[in-house]
Amino acid sequence: MPDPESSQTLESLLNVVEKFPPPKKLKEQAWVKSNKIYEKAKRDPEGFWAEAAEILDWFKPWSKVLKWDPPDSRWFIGGKINASYNCLDRHVKTWRRNKVAIFWEGEPGDRRVLTYSDLYREVNRFANVLKKMGLKEGDRATLYLPMIPELPIAMLACTRIGVIHSVVFAGYSAKALQERLRNAEARLLITANHGYRRGKKIPLKKNADEALQDAPTVEKVIVYQRSDELTPMKNGRDFWWHELMQTVPPKCDPKPLDSETPLFTLYTSGTTGKPKGIVHVNGGYLVGTAITQKWVFDLKDEDVYWCTADIGWITGHSYIVYGPLAIGATEVMYEGAPDYPQPDRFWEIVERYGVTIFYTAPTAIRAFMKWGEEWPKKHDLSSIRLLGSVGEPINPQAWLWYRSTIGGGKCQIVDTWWQTETGMILITPLPGVTVLKPGSATLPFPGIEADVVDEKGNPVPPDRGGFLVIKNPWPAMLKTLYRDPERYRRTYWTQIPGAYFTGDGARKDKDGYFWIMGRIDDVMNVSGHRLGTMEVESAIVSHPFVAEAAVVGKPHPVKGQSITAYVMLRRGVKPAEGLKDDLKKQVRKEIGPIAVPDEIYVVEKLPKTRSGKIMRRVIRALISGQELGDITTLEDPSAVEEVRKWLKTVE
Ligand code: WTA
Repeated sequence: MPDPESSQTLESLLNVVEKFPPPKKLKEQAWVKSNKIYEKAKRDPEGFWAEAAEILDWFKPWSKVLKWDPPDSRWFIGGKINASYNCLDRHVKTWRRNKVAIFWEGEPGDRRVLTYSDLYREVNRFANVLKKMGLKEGDRATLYLPMIPELPIAMLACTRIGVIHSVVFAGYSAKALQERLRNAEARLLITANHGYRRGKKIPLKKNADEALQDAPTVEKVIVYQRSDELTPMKNGRDFWWHELMQTVPPKCDPKPLDSETPLFTLYTSGTTGKPKGIVHVNGGYLVGTAITQKWVFDLKDEDVYWCTADIGWITGHSYIVYGPLAIGATEVMYEGAPDYPQPDRFWEIVERYGVTIFYTAPTAIRAFMKWGEEWPKKHDLSSIRLLGSVGEPINPQAWLWYRSTIGGGKCQIVDTWWQTETGMILITPLPGVTVLKPGSATLPFPGIEADVVDEKGNPVPPDRGGFLVIKNPWPAMLKTLYRDPERYRRTYWTQIPGAYFTGDGARKDKDGYFWIMGRIDDVMNVSGHRLGTMEVESAIVSHPFVAEAAVVGKPHPVKGQSITAYVMLRRGVKPAEGLKDDLKKQVRKEIGPIAVPDEIYVVEKLPKTRSGKIMRRVIRALISGQELGDITTLEDPSAVEEVRKWLKTVE
């Protein structure tokens, strides 16, 4: 077993590390037992997806699987469907009605168990609350809630009547919430008075009040009472969740919606300052998440599944809410931090509920490694039968540690590559068939054509770095960017001819396995959270002393990347004491604590190209000590020298 702390390179590790074929038992009982499925999907992708769509209940069948007019796709044309019907009604009509849907645990230790019938009742009532508030199909509701059952309840209630939800991560600041409320032109905001994080109360309602000072489209606010502290409520605008729920009838019929109508928008970071409102629609998104949930996690009715993500991100949308509930799974949902009150909180939860499938992020795995084996060792984790990873490349050391320490040396790991935009997992093992190589997300899901290409779109030879692209449409693909179809086209469909541009660098080995190398654009991945350099730079530059800023992600042993900011002050301004702290505060206020830079350097000038662009990519490559081969050969070589000189003066 390699020493997890050692700094062996990927290559050298790969030479010593074995491959992991699926154990016999898993292979025998898995949903997908044979790799013939890949050929089948390749021969007839539309037929394959049509069959996949049978996993759902449709009010009206579609007449055509796909209309592909790049970059516009339409899936399951003419079909009528409802997400909340698929996640609830169809289960309560069967033996699953009293099956546990969610084992919920709050950070302070409070617990709730919700069966499918319980969820069904809550969602029906809350859908009637939304109606009572005057919301109708196509309206937008923004949800700024902690990880409590009311978050999926509110989401499903929206989908029941065709209201488009936009969930904003509860760790975002008032300012970030405001921007998202304004962009979505939300009529309603749903929040809680507080959330909990590492024992502290997060004042969500207070943030919401601040955001609402300039979010004119919002007419009403529904507040869930998470703590009994006094909460100022604005008369006529603010309503308590529990009071409204008592005033509405218990049943609300699910509305049959066209498969192409928007289900939700979710904001994610791009290379420019403004977050992008990714739009997903009812039919295709639900098909994609349901089928991957079932096959990639090999999820059975007996399983207890736990995805540790926050629903504020896409992973939580697809693999806590829509995927698991659509297929009637039992899952765990946890509100708080993994190390509260102690670093074994996750393992205590695994033991308590007998979790069988555990899905988390490499940044968390690296934190567990740092905290030490003694914490997982305190608990019986033998119920776990399958592990998953998502959010960033997992280094082989962490992969091996995860398998041995959490998986008891017996579990396969599904390293799943995908994005907010892709909606569903696209590159991943199928646990019953794929031979694993630690550190590789392995192969495209059946029906998906991925490749690694140069800037002209030509495939690069095996083991050479290039751009990761997807060459054919898939059901859960983003429809567009909210109110900005032109930016949608430009961002994803013009960079590489004839393909969807992921923004990731990758290489494919001789067996066709994909090795994701991380972002090649100006997007950072901090603790699994996607942040644009421009967003952070704009926050810094809004400080009156700052003229310009360049922000880059730098490798970090636990977070994946940490943020380093280079700041140029306005003429005449001297770097005063406390300035760096002020800048950090500024970022916290504008975006939230996740975006605060670890290091800030005040510099005389920033390295720029002749056209005036800051050379972030080169700075990033050089401070990472990255080999300037592969991806970075795409840089202008003289720029590399410039930045090298500049970095010396900074240090
Ligand atoms: C990265 C999260 C390597 C990648 C679902 C992608 C990964 C970005 C993996 C999307 C993985 C996600 N291996 N890198 N298994 N999964 N990524 O939109 O850079 O928050 O482009 O979606 O995360 O981040 P997002």
